[in-house]
Amino acid sequence: MSGEQRSHKLWGGRFSVPTAAALEALNRSIGIDYRLWPHDVRLSKAWAMALWGAGVLTLEESTAIETGLTRVGDRLEEGAQPEPSDEDVHTMIDRMLHEEIGDVASKLHTGRSRNDQVATATRLWTMEAAGELDKRVRSLQQVMIEQARKLEHDLMPAYTHLQRAQPVSGAHWMLSHFWPLERDRARIATVARNTAVLPLGSGAIAGSAYPISRVLLQGSLGFTSLSPNSIDAVGDRDFVAEMLFCVAMLGVHLSRLSEDLILYGSSEFGFVKFGEAFTTGSSMMPQKRNPDALELARGSGARTLGDLTSLLATLKGLPSGYNKDLQDDKRALFGAVDLMMLVLPAVAGTLGEITFDRQRMSAALSSTMMATDLADYLVGKGSTFREAHEAVGAIIREGEKRGCELTELPLEVFSSAHPLFGSDTMEWLDPAQSVARRGVPGGTGPEAIKAQLEAAAMAIQPSRDIPRGNQLSIA
Ligand code: ARG
Repeated sequence: MSGEQRSHKLWGGRFSVPTAAALEALNRSIGIDYRLWPHDVRLSKAWAMALWGAGVLTLEESTAIETGLTRVGDRLEEGAQPEPSDEDVHTMIDRMLHEEIGDVASKLHTGRSRNDQVATATRLWTMEAAGELDKRVRSLQQVMIEQARKLEHDLMPAYTHLQRAQPVSGAHWMLSHFWPLERDRARIATVARNTAVLPLGSGAIAGSAYPISRVLLQGSLGFTSLSPNSIDAVGDRDFVAEMLFCVAMLGVHLSRLSEDLILYGSSEFGFVKFGEAFTTGSSMMPQKRNPDALELARGSGARTLGDLTSLLATLKGLPSGYNKDLQDDKRALFGAVDLMMLVLPAVAGTLGEITFDRQRMSAALSSTMMATDLADYLVGKGSTFREAHEAVGAIIREGEKRGCELTELPLEVFSSAHPLFGSDTMEWLDPAQSVARRGVPGGTGPEAIKAQLEAAAMAIQPSRDIPRGNQLSIA
């Protein structure tokens, strides 16, 4: 008996020569899709029941298959490894089921195809991954809120074009990284909902020829609706693309947070001091403490972007129905999600042990950052903003010429730039006043910050509900 004949295959009857080793090597996806086994076991049990419901299997047969699948699941749980000849996870489980219960296992694949099977298993995996991602993003958001609370009354420069722009509360800066993650969580929850459409029952392309109840399958597997078109159902990977977009966007957000922290942690800025558990040293320079976790997070943004691009490029040229190109969806999906699962706790840990140097932060507030406030002062006294802008510009020029802060200029410089400048002008150069004036919702004023902190804490309180078909209340 050749090795070829011994290997367990779900196809092969129409072939008279063995598959070339080079094709087998390329075609084999078990290394990547092995982890789908819990979902494949689960959907296979549901399928066995559906086949009994359709009168294809007797109750004993269906029960034997279910019991066999439980034993297969137990073996895999205990660490059973695929055999080198297993083409993919579906083949592996089929082989193991045969080992457990013998020939009756051959009846399980009636009316289904690996095409609807893999689409279903990948959706189940994605729905679960959405919940896991949500948890990890929320943990990072929790750290952000804790740091923001500590910085509530500390001022720092906010930057536009990486140039000092206006003073803000440190909490305002910290929370500016919180809300993008909140949008990420909302997007991930939407993807979970969009993913809960059941493809099982679509067969290879035209739908199953057996009268199985797809509605019961939908309910027992936790989907919210049925795919309305079998051709679409087996070739649809929109949910993978959507999840990859969410992850890529999340990667972009983590990258921007990391970049801020790396920059603020440089000696030149000195706003941030890194802790020791999430930094590394240099093999040559004894003084170094490097923010590797943040740099890796920044780098991972590039990888997740690549995963999204590669999937979209795969999809765009495909004819309708299932094509083997789709096998690569899982490499991109698992790779991107795994990466985020690693990155999120590392970023949360790094941020959690960071301390802020309040002196450095406030020392970076220069008087010219209150230039807009000076213009607002004149507007308050009746000037137009345009005229005020011009006058303050002249004062800035004068400060630059004398090489001093605006606070060091004599009052005459102000009043000659604009007659409306009075004796209270200097108060408008106080950064705390500048911040206090910005009390609009979403602004950096103390009350607005308090409200923002409350809103942030509220946002992460309840776990975002990812509805499953079998958890919905039926009206
Ligand atoms: N391993 C395959 C995949 O991941 C399963 C589907 C195979 N379908 C087929 N017609 N060969 O896409």
